[in-house]
Amino acid sequence: MPKKFHLGWFMNFIPPEWDTDDASPDVQNWPNGRFYVDMARAMERACFDLIMIEDTVMVADAYGGTMEGALKHSAFAPKHDPIPLAVQVACSTSNLGVVSTMSTSFYPPYLLARLCSTVDSIAQGRFGWNIVSSAEDRAAQNFGLEGLPEHDERYNVAEEYFDVVNQLWDSWEADAVVMDRKTHTFADFNKVHTIDFDGKYFKSRGPLNTVPSPQHRPAFLQAGASPKGRQFAAGAADAIVAVGTGLEGMKEYRDDIRARAKAAGRNPDDVKLLFVVSPTIAATEAEARAEVERLLDHPSYVEKSLVSISSNTEIDFKQFDLDEPLPADLTTNGERGSLEYFMRGDGSPGPKTLRQLVLHRAKRGLELVGTPEQVAEKMGQAMEEVGGDGFLIAKPGWDLSRKYIESICDGLVPALQRRGLTRTAYTTTTLRDTLREF
Ligand SMILES: Cc1cc2nc3c(=O)[nH]c(=O)nc-3n(C[C@H](O)[C@H](O)[C@H](O)COP(=O)(O)O)c2cc1C
Repeated sequence: MPKKFHLGWFMNFIPPEWDTDDASPDVQNWPNGRFYVDMARAMERACFDLIMIEDTVMVADAYGGTMEGALKHSAFAPKHDPIPLAVQVACSTSNLGVVSTMSTSFYPPYLLARLCSTVDSIAQGRFGWNIVSSAEDRAAQNFGLEGLPEHDERYNVAEEYFDVVNQLWDSWEADAVVMDRKTHTFADFNKVHTIDFDGKYFKSRGPLNTVPSPQHRPAFLQAGASPKGRQFAAGAADAIVAVGTGLEGMKEYRDDIRARAKAAGRNPDDVKLLFVVSPTIAATEAEARAEVERLLDHPSYVEKSLVSISSNTEIDFKQFDLDEPLPADLTTNGERGSLEYFMRGDGSPGPKTLRQLVLHRAKRGLELVGTPEQVAEKMGQAMEEVGGDGFLIAKPGWDLSRKYIESICDGLVPALQRRGLTRTAYTTTTLRDTLREF
């Protein structure tokens, strides 16, 4: 029997596909969240481990110095708050893990710790926090700051942040709530402690004013790609999400993370590596390839991609000619891993044009285009070679349609299950245990 791997889905609370023939009849109602609840239910039928809601907190204008591109193409703007959606999804499902993104650069630690505790209780132990430190000065400016701290310094802040929120989650002992009717005592005050945290960046007295949630703390997801980011993720995360750069790159990344986790005193098996992939599934391979062509031919595709990569890296890609080789020495204080991945293209030596890089980006590291059986086989082979833990689905071109969700949940996943590659039932109740099951 092959080793099973985990499945998650990476998405945003943004308008689903709205200007193609695949748009749902209720697409205008997307802000009520029900489109995504339907998605989560389909995922739960397919026994996904988790749905992960991405987040950033600004309207980007890095591309061409204007918000036009972001708003014209709905390129991650609008984007609604992930937490209420996470609650809505949690209340509409029973087993699926629900992960929400929150930034250590903007949430006061006490509020975040309290929010995670509350949502994990509502989700009955299925909540996860995607720990990000944000990458955009525009976001910082929405919180009264001039800009973000330097890239590695953001991780120094995140490390202390992680420490203070964990102390807050520990501020109630597991058996502090007694609800003793004889003595009319709800909680034993001897088991609830101040933390008196006084660090370089944060101060918090504690204790938290929530009871311990089923997981005590949310499951932790992280996506550090730079050396500093990998170090943080390896020490903190239950699952790391990454954009793989081919099988070799994926293996290198996983081996590196496992070595770092071990050096940090953790069991490397407790840190799962989920690689982002964007499968395109159809009844025949030719149809699947035609589907990819349709996406790449969409009038907005190239510019929308450039708006997105400009936003993540704060580099204005509008200044470059689409069909000229791109300078190789671009640097960023934003998402370094994302820039490196983008600039790498297909990994072949020599300069590449911006158009080539954008078209390559659609493949997300591992090309998965074909029938359910073909793609399932390729995913199984990839995991065997990488020794990996699983995949995080992200739709090519991002915006979701019910047709695409069905092609994955009712097309690809059954083919994976028939091969014994992914779960066919949930056996544990919390997200952390689900991730650790295999
Ligand atoms: C799958 C995945 C999901 C991510 N989700 C978010 C997100 O929701 N919000 C955000 O600000 N950054 C997000 N990032 C960016 C990471 O937090 C990180 O900045 C990026 O991977 C670059 O790594 P580095 O910070 O170590 O350079 C994501 C990255 C990946 C690969």
